[in-house]
Amino acid sequence: MRMETSGAAAPAAGGQTDARVEDVLGQLTLEEKAALTVGRDAWTTVPVERLGVPSVWLSDGPTGLRKARGGADMSVGHNIPATCFPTESALGASWDVDLVRAVAGAIADEAQAEEVQVLLGPGVNLKRSPLCGRNFEYFAEDPVLSGELAAAFVSGLQERGVGACVKHLVANESETDRMITDSVVDERALRELYLRPFEIAIDRADPWTLMAAYNRLNGTYCTENTRLLHEIVEGEWGYTGIVMSDWLAVNDRAAGVAAGLHLQMPHAPTADAVAAAVREGRLPEERLDAIVRALLAFVFRVDAARRPDATADPDAHHRLARRAAGESIVLLKNEGALLPLEGETLSEVAVIGAFAREPRYQGAGSSQVVPARPVETIHDELAALIGPAGRVTYAAGYGADGATEPALLDEAREVARRARTAVVVVGLPASYEEEGADRTHLDLPPGHNRLVEAVLEAQPRTVVVLVNGSAVALPRAGRAPALVEGWLGGQASGGAIADVLLGRVNPSGKLAETFPARLEDTPAYLSFPDDGTGRVPFAEGLFTGYRWYDARRIDPLFPFGHGLSYTTFAYGEVTSRIVGKSGKEVDGNGHRVVLV
Ligand code: BGC
Repeated sequence: MRMETSGAAAPAAGGQTDARVEDVLGQLTLEEKAALTVGRDAWTTVPVERLGVPSVWLSDGPTGLRKARGGADMSVGHNIPATCFPTESALGASWDVDLVRAVAGAIADEAQAEEVQVLLGPGVNLKRSPLCGRNFEYFAEDPVLSGELAAAFVSGLQERGVGACVKHLVANESETDRMITDSVVDERALRELYLRPFEIAIDRADPWTLMAAYNRLNGTYCTENTRLLHEIVEGEWGYTGIVMSDWLAVNDRAAGVAAGLHLQMPHAPTADAVAAAVREGRLPEERLDAIVRALLAFVFRVDAARRPDATADPDAHHRLARRAAGESIVLLKNEGALLPLEGETLSEVAVIGAFAREPRYQGAGSSQVVPARPVETIHDELAALIGPAGRVTYAAGYGADGATEPALLDEAREVARRARTAVVVVGLPASYEEEGADRTHLDLPPGHNRLVEAVLEAQPRTVVVLVNGSAVALPRAGRAPALVEGWLGGQASGGAIADVLLGRVNPSGKLAETFPARLEDTPAYLSFPDDGTGRVPFAEGLFTGYRWYDARRIDPLFPFGHGLSYTTFAYGEVTSRIVGKSGKEVDGNGHRVVLV
């Protein structure tokens, strides 16, 4: 674990750029200026060829590069293959800024090789409720941890010449009706929690872009929110990059320009409305000029950072993905030092659960990467690493989407009973956690719970491996003697989990989010996802995450920061030494004390 960041060596907009910006700005017609504030298609910006203003390509993030096959292609699942790294919720548990920076650097190299200038990530919304369907795309429940990791991600991208886009500004902590909800947040919680990761990322790493969220903030859409964009981000924080809209988040383009929204994405026929607002005196031309000035500086900056000869090494990136997944795994429980598996316990290992062969390794939605390499499975990687030292058997254990199937349960019991050790892989199917929807409960699918129960009856030496992007309640799986949180660990997560189970990697991840004992214990339980009228009251105020559990003295299942390792630690008798100027030792309270 390492928590420390330093600023990225990003190519800055210098005096020459300023002069070029002013020169181009002075030659643009009103219509051209208005056109620049709206995307050309789904993924690119409008060029002005006669003045040498190039188009810029933007692609999702943050799990890897999701480059569409064409500027108009908004489909998910048919993109250009790229390395699928662990999701942000996994990386968050590493608490490791160097690791996050290295992952972002690798993504940047792939972006450069595919001529992408901006990666749409990292996401820094907080895990206000474990039910948020998109928590897999966010780092933590804590704003400082989120901000520091985000700064590392931004630096990793930008030092390799690819702009970051820190998203979603702000208070987009739920997915239900996300395009119309109104997040009602008090000033202190807004400043100290929800704005904080953006502020830290800007302060430490100067992201070239930000993304304004779909929702309203205290009554006004974020994409039109003067107080948010103009007064706080630009005015108070001195941010000089550009703010783009989330995709389809714009309602009134001219109001957005007035508020400080530089770029509307994707394309919409709204440029005329911007030009008309200027012509009719509703939008001062100086305001449009300020927006276009920042846009031009951004375009010239990313253009100068292009590395046309860039190449990426998919095999090296696959190895990095495996290392990153391994560093993120959290050992939640290990009674009787059941793990790591070694010696005799390997003679027959029953791997049970369809996820062990048909892995879930990333979240569903806009961040979904088409993996560049075959996705590793826990079953195959364990079998390969164990080799002739033992035998790996398999049973699927549950049906599609986690349904209980009695015949599969019987088979699982039998396979577990015969083995020396059982590894049961359960978690959340894709339909349980996805962008655009929130969960309604924290449970594993019924078939997964039944499977754990059945295997525990048949085999006491059972390790449960969890595959999920966000906290879950574990009434059954929590009874297993060993419990490993494997997250959605990307294309190499199967190997990373096998590495930890066999002790090739010492688990060192620590939870970046509380695992509650019950949904009713969670901070936003009474106000999530909304109050039924489209308002999302952030009623718990400052008491999110561990603050809530501490203040109310509620014992969670596993607290923020929890995570074991294979190392054993022992605390001995405490002695203190205070060394005095005289160098004389003073004996007080039975301790040896030396004054400094
Ligand atoms: C998501 C963004 C994403 C954008 C482009 C939106 O629906 O909220 O995070 O970057 O789509 O795919």
